[in-house]
Amino acid sequence: MKSVPFPGLDLLATAVLLLDQRLTLRYVNAAAENLLGLSSKNVVGHSLSHIFPGADELFAAVGYALEHETSFTEHEMALAVAGGHGRLLASCTVTPAESGPARLVIEFHQIDQQLKIAREERMHLQQQANRELIRNLVHEIKNPLGGIRGAAQLLEHELTKLELREYTQVIIKESDRLQGLMDRLLAPHRPPQNGPINVHEVLERVRSLLLAEAPRGIAIRRDYDTSLPEITGDKGQLIQAVLNIARNSVQALQGNGEVVLRTRIARQATVAKRRHRLAIQLQIIDNGPGIPEDLRERIFYPLVSGREGGSGLGLTIAQTFINQQQGTIECDSRPGHTCFTVLLPLPDEA
Ligand SMILES: Nc1ncnc2c1ncn2[C@@H]1O[C@H](COP(=O)(O)OP(=O)(O)O)[C@@H](O)[C@H]1O
Ligand SMILES: [Mg+2]
Repeated sequence: MKSVPFPGLDLLATAVLLLDQRLTLRYVNAAAENLLGLSSKNVVGHSLSHIFPGADELFAAVGYALEHETSFTEHEMALAVAGGHGRLLASCTVTPAESGPARLVIEFHQIDQQLKIAREERMHLQQQANRELIRNLVHEIKNPLGGIRGAAQLLEHELTKLELREYTQVIIKESDRLQGLMDRLLAPHRPPQNGPINVHEVLERVRSLLLAEAPRGIAIRRDYDTSLPEITGDKGQLIQAVLNIARNSVQALQGNGEVVLRTRIARQATVAKRRHRLAIQLQIIDNGPGIPEDLRERIFYPLVSGREGGSGLGLTIAQTFINQQQGTIECDSRPGHTCFTVLLPLPDEA
């Protein structure tokens, strides 16, 4: 009989291992047995190094998590499993546990490498096509718009009946509104102005801006790994990008809930098809209702909005800025938990 100290864990789709302070395996859930091709009764009581021989990346992750008392994610890890399914490509999160028999929790998510690259390639192409489309469309609209506005002004001067100006004013005001929208669509194409950035300064700035505008029932919590190094990039753009993401969270919470701003170091992150040894991971997490299912695949597209009065540009602009810094944004959302993850690569010699 398999002993189940945490029955709920056996119901999870995520592979979970629990270890004690000597890094001896205390528990393996059903998903982990499946993923690793091991049976709980053969591995519980054995050391981690016995099960994953030569897994330096895994031990580095465990070491980091224990030393810094913080959860640590390695995005792509090749694992050899002794007596199990052989080699496995997975992302792995190691979290120190506070109490109970377990001192450390390890979660694995298998990566289907082909699928991931194909998806990223598709997204990349789509983004390029989007940008091109926007640029062309904006130019096509801006030129005649200037003409329409100018003509309305000339007409206004010729009008003898003052009450008719109401109509020319509508033309002028609406032209201005469209002009503003067009400028915002083009704005992200400015070249970035690079300098040193402390990501926590960026998050603190975003936090104070949000606190100023968010209703009282909303808490904005920090969960920072303060050992992160500085990065190089456009600080203004990064603030705007994170603000756009976090503002959506605040809006989704409708006056009640929590936004968490989290920073971590991430290893082996693949960003825009290039693998980076280290990256800075920023997460903006809220416990709101989640992104409506019919929008989930499209939220980064321009003019896609689920909000009354929304422009649908916030995430498009955020994505453009983050891409300009060689980073990526990903989103994972379900009711009660929406997490936007921004990965910003660190130079490989860092
Ligand atoms: N944290 C979130 N929770 C729920 N829905 C979200 C969240 N972030 C984004 N969305 C959805 O994505 C849409 C697009 O966001 P965005 O590009 O910023 O445009 P806008 O905020 O102007 O609608 C939002 O309207 C909302 O429906
Ligand atoms: Mg928005």
